[in-house]
Parts: sequence; structure tokens; C-alpha cells
Amino acid sequence: MSTLELTINGKGYAFTQGETILDVACRNDIVIPTLCHLKNTTPTGACRMCVVEVKGARSLVASCTVPASAGMEVQTESPSVVKSRKMNLELLLSSGSHDCLLCPASGDCRLQDLAFKYNATGKRFERTKPKYSPDVSNPFLIRDFSKCILCGRCVQACKDVQVNNAIDYGYRGSDAKIIAKCDLPLGDSDCVFCGECLQVCPVGALTLKKARQKPRICETEAVRTTCAYCGVGCQMNLHVKDNVVQMVTGADAVPNHGSLCVKGRFGMQFINSPERLTTPLIRKDGELVPAEWDEALGLVAEKLGTYKAENGADSIGVLASARCTNEENYLFQKFARAVIGTNNVDHCARY
Ligand code: SF4
Ligand code: SF4
Ligand code: SF4
Ligand code: FES
Repeated sequence: MSTLELTINGKGYAFTQGETILDVACRNDIVIPTLCHLKNTTPTGACRMCVVEVKGARSLVASCTVPASAGMEVQTESPSVVKSRKMNLELLLSSGSHDCLLCPASGDCRLQDLAFKYNATGKRFERTKPKYSPDVSNPFLIRDFSKCILCGRCVQACKDVQVNNAIDYGYRGSDAKIIAKCDLPLGDSDCVFCGECLQVCPVGALTLKKARQKPRICETEAVRTTCAYCGVGCQMNLHVKDNVVQMVTGADAVPNHGSLCVKGRFGMQFINSPERLTTPLIRKDGELVPAEWDEALGLVAEKLGTYKAENGADSIGVLASARCTNEENYLFQKFARAVIGTNNVDHCARY
């Protein structure tokens, strides 16, 4: 065994200094279940779902927080690990209204998946009654505290990923809840409606408004695309059913690594808007009249040609758009410089 090697389930794996047991496992496709762990943030060790057995350790350890060390012998599904995870799940299921039949997150819920895997029924302990009413003050999402498992992923996403600091843990013990500043409704708080918390919530505690009137995410098809709202070019998945975009999630790729802003996440209704222009319009006798693309492009080419011949290329300027991709804007300046022959290129973002 080299110096930096541990064994997981009897097999040796190399690791680098600073990696946790969970890091090594993930890198080698060994599944350790997690609820609170959020990539690229500091582990909190809140949920204890990722516990593993380490030979010689006095108790089970949280693999997301414990650094790998040389010679460590780890078991990820030993009887004591499975027993602990099942007990943990039973406690989580008993503390709230985990009624999967009516939950919009059903089919996309880690608690549901893990309960199924570890045969946790939620009947072992008496269920506690919900203490807090749902918060519907945010225009885009609902906070249902009765389904919150206090994993803290939303807090980390808001604080460490989006750096908005709009939410945090509040109160103590069985009164604990995720609160916005001074326990204000989210709609009256510092929340900027980016929806990062919605995306990372592993259960149905944060869901889209009117989610019950939409298909669940597991019923949609994810279509990868580039956000067209600004030049950052965030990568996103459009969740589509019946040719309608039902929801948007960030794709884990550069430049956004899964994050989106309010426009990219919630501003996609225009795609299916009945008011959207689907044909070019040409003004005739003061009226905008639908036209074929060939006719419209022919008219533009003819007018630009006439102005250039009469007044020179610099009598023409082109105004690009933040609503185009970088590639489209690149082509547009090429068109201005190489086709028309002018450097008069500007962009609406400068206004
Ligand atoms: S929507 Fe964004 S700003 Fe508001 S609480 Fe969620 S992560 Fe924080
Ligand atoms: S709202 Fe969701 S992400 Fe936030 S603590 Fe509750 S369960 Fe976790
Ligand atoms: S999600 Fe927001 S930041 Fe990203 S490209 Fe769209 S508008 Fe720009
Ligand atoms: S994932 Fe490790 S404690 Fe929650």
C-alpha cells in the first residue's frame, strides 16, 4: 500500500491530502448517500446520512467531514451503517408531513429515494405536527416548512454560492426553521429570487409556485441550452413537457457551475408566450404587416445597400443585443465590419 491509500469496502484507493472519505468514494463511483452535502461548499455534517464505519473508530463517522488518512479501512454499507441510516431516516420522516402522494417533489426527492432504499416506513415514531405555515410570499417559490429536514443546503447555496445571505437557521431545538432576516416572509426579505435554494433543496420543502398544476420534474425531458438573457452564457436545462418549458435548472458546467440568476431561472415564459413574434413584420402604409423571411431580409439588404451607396458605410451603425449569445453578437460585429464595412457597432447593455 502506498502512503496515501485507504481501503473502501476491502479495495484500495489512492487519495490526495485534504480529500474527505466522501471525496475519494465519489471519485471512484462508490455511492455514499448524502442529504446535506453541497458540492463546492464547506461540509456541515448536519444530516449524518453519509456515515461510514472506520476500523478502530469509536463510532460511525460522517464521511463528508472526515479527511481520508493512510491505511484507513472504511465500510460504506456495514450492518451498523445501514441501521444508523435507517434510524436517521425514520426520525426525519416522523418530523413533518412527508406525504409523497401529494408532494410536487415526488420522483425527485432524496429522502424518498433513501427511504425506499433503506426500507424506512416513517411509521416507527409518532409524527410531529407542523409548527409553521407555508410561506408563499416569494413570487416564484413556496417554502413548506413541514417538509424541511433542516439539512442547510439552501442556506449554503444562498450564503456561499450566490453570496446573498438572505436566509439562515433560526430558533432552537424543535422550533428550528430556516428563516429570512428577522423571520420575515421571503418576499419581504433580502432575497433576490435567484432560486438557488430551490434547486439544491433535496426534498419538497422548496417548490415552484403552482407546482401541483404542472408536471413533476421527473415527468419532463431535460434539454440543455444556453441562457439567452445576457453575455455570461449560463448553461441550463429546460425541463420540457408537451413542448412547454415547465422549469429551468442550472447545468453543472462552465461558466455557471449549476447556478442561475432570477432571469435565467424564472424568466422563460416568453418561449411559449402567445404574444411572441413568429414572423418578421414590415411596415406598409404605417401598419406592421407579417412578411416572409426572404421578403424581410431582401428589404433590409436593399435598404442597407442604398444607404451605403449614397452616404458611405459609416452612415450605418448596428446595435447588438444582450438577448443574443456571444456567438450571435460575434457574428453581428463581423457582419458590420466585413459585410457593411463599418466599425459602428454598439450594444444595448451600455445604455
Ligand atoms: S432565492 Fe436566492 S436569494 Fe432568495 S433565499 Fe433562495 S438562494 Fe437566497
Ligand atoms: S428548505 Fe430544503 S434545503 Fe433548506 S434546510 Fe429545508 S430541506 Fe434543506
Ligand atoms: S442566468 Fe442570469 S447571469 Fe446567467 S446568462 Fe442568464 S441572465 Fe445571464
Ligand atoms: S452528507 Fe455528511 S453529514 Fe450530511
